Amino acid sequence: MTARHDFTTQALHWLVAVAIALAYGLALWRDELPKGDFRNVVTGLHMSAGVLVLALSAVRIAWRPFSRALPPVDGSPLMQALAKAGHLALYVAMLAVPVVGMLMVWAKGRPVPFFGLSIPAPFAIGSGLAKPLEEVHEVTANFMMIMAGLHAAAAIGHQVLLKDGTLARMVPFGRRAEQA
Ligand code: HEM
Repeated sequence: MTARHDFTTQALHWLVAVAIALAYGLALWRDELPKGDFRNVVTGLHMSAGVLVLALSAVRIAWRPFSRALPPVDGSPLMQALAKAGHLALYVAMLAVPVVGMLMVWAKGRPVPFFGLSIPAPFAIGSGLAKPLEEVHEVTANFMMIMAGLHAAAAIGHQVLLKDGTLARMVPFGRRAEQA
């Protein structure tokens, strides 16, 4: 049995993870800063990192049908169903959080920056939607980070406590199940 995901799946997984951590870290940092030019720069970087999350997530989802199919990690049917639901929630959030962020910025009448480029609104969005979209953006982003934390804790728990090689499936090195 092949116990690892293919290299493209692994690379996209970790690139998305780093981009999400960057976008979230920048959002928290921005919140601590006084209004001004520097905060605007950090907000611009946050938005660029967020758009990167969306782009990489779209590539990741498009790659799934071509990726190496691995059997699910051993566990009770309940644990397997929970893992599946958690992964689905993460995929939905990886798309929804950045899309809502972009809609919010467009509703405020501004283009979305992407590392020096500028993405204009593709359609008109009422400015009255800016505030509700901001609330949805923040709540869904925090929900996504809770899900990501549970996801990481589960993977580390499998690897370290159950020693079943779960984390090693997503890296090109380390002890796999048959070696553990
Ligand atoms: C995975 C991607 C993203 C995550 C995890 C994320 C997370 C967050 C969080 C947690 C906040 C609230 C910060 C606070 O406490 O005030 C925030 C604010 C914000 N986000 Fe994002 N975000 C993402 C993507 C985006 C994108 C793609 C855009 C727009 C292009 C965007 C635009 C903004 C803006 C403008 C704010 C400030 C809202 C305000 O005025 O308070 N975000 N983001």
